[in-house]
Amino acid sequence: MTKRKTRAVRVAPSILSADFARLGEEVEAVSEAGADFIHIDVMDGHFVPNITIGPVVVKAIRGHSKKPFDCHLMIAPADPYIAGFAEAGADIISIHPEAGPNPHRTLQLIRSLGKKAGYVLNPGTPVEVLDPVFDLLDLILVMTVNPGFGGQAFLSSQLPKIEAVRERIERSGREIMLEVDGGINRDTAKDAIAAGADVLVAGTAVFDKGGKGRKYYAGNIARLRG
Ligand code: DX5
Ligand code: ZN
Repeated sequence: MTKRKTRAVRVAPSILSADFARLGEEVEAVSEAGADFIHIDVMDGHFVPNITIGPVVVKAIRGHSKKPFDCHLMIAPADPYIAGFAEAGADIISIHPEAGPNPHRTLQLIRSLGKKAGYVLNPGTPVEVLDPVFDLLDLILVMTVNPGFGGQAFLSSQLPKIEAVRERIERSGREIMLEVDGGINRDTAKDAIAAGADVLVAGTAVFDKGGKGRKYYAGNIARLRG
């Protein structure tokens, strides 16, 4: 593995693994436990085979945390809902290139609302899709599972893609976050960081390890930072 400069690693707990019956408390607990972002997985039962959270829920939990809300939209189309998520309190809004015919326009829309724009690469999506929209990106998310569910196994086949994204970011000289999502635990976090990731999404490894509550989440988050 090539030697890389050390950069601060941020942890974004995915509330997909939280107790949905106590979502406000869970968001508070994980925020106090050291989360850098709150990762919110939005699924429509069409783009991915699961249904989760809409803007009303984002709005409802907004008052429970001061941390940036990192909304990962796994929905198609995305355009009609971007303003709704922005108004509900999203800070970062990420879309998949496959979600519609005009992803460049969607990224422009996100930025026009004063939000950070993210672009998500599925395991089957090549890194080259970044190039035509690179100037619009604040965050690049590399999926290390196929989107739709928590608790899946990390696909180490995606590590070269994380490296390729890191190279593009370095070449650009811009401050773009490189996030990784899916199957992140203490071991796979190390590999992802070594490949160049600087934001780790983790659902199971934060909410489902040891026990429920701030004390457990704090340990779980700290262990992921390495
Ligand atoms: C999957 C989601 C992930 C998921 C991660 O579609 O994008 O954010 O919640 O869950 P773990 O960390 O359990 O793999
Ligand atoms: Zn996600």
